[in-house]
Amino acid sequence: MAHTDFSSTADRAERHAETAARIEALLDGETDWIAAMATVACELHHAFDHYHWTGFYRVVAERELAIGPYQGGHGCLRIPFDRGVCGAAARSLSTQLVPDVDVFPEHIACSSSTRSEIVVPVVTPGGRLLAVLDVDSDYPAAFDETDRRALESLCATLGARYAHEAR
Ligand code: SME
Repeated sequence: MAHTDFSSTADRAERHAETAARIEALLDGETDWIAAMATVACELHHAFDHYHWTGFYRVVAERELAIGPYQGGHGCLRIPFDRGVCGAAARSLSTQLVPDVDVFPEHIACSSSTRSEIVVPVVTPGGRLLAVLDVDSDYPAAFDETDRRALESLCATLGARYAHEAR
């Protein structure tokens, strides 16, 4: 079992379900994409003790990400698509679950305390990448398939709801 406050997968899944319901209620009727990202970062960050950095990188130019709303210590401001775990998620449009950042050669060490991370792309139904959701933990192997499923579901909802947002 990874270093988290969960004694079982069911506990983690339940926390995700509660958090998703809260986010859904908070975003009800909200059309502003920045407001949505800020709310999601805040809710996720405070719901899980193992989420030590929680936030978004937005697509701002051809193959370039810039930091968006986040919670935690300062994050790198710009990440090109060819760098970092975030870049890998942006390039591949697929979730990157990295249990040990030391063996992920591309990892960008914004914080030397980060041990594991998960990055999930936010893609519109038409296939356009809006942003990536990046969660970093100071604990090794902190994220599991429950986190992946929940964050992918959340990002799919965001991609559909905020598809109208321009870069
Ligand atoms: N670890 C990320 C960089 C972003 S931050 O750590 C906030 C990466 O390798 O993409």
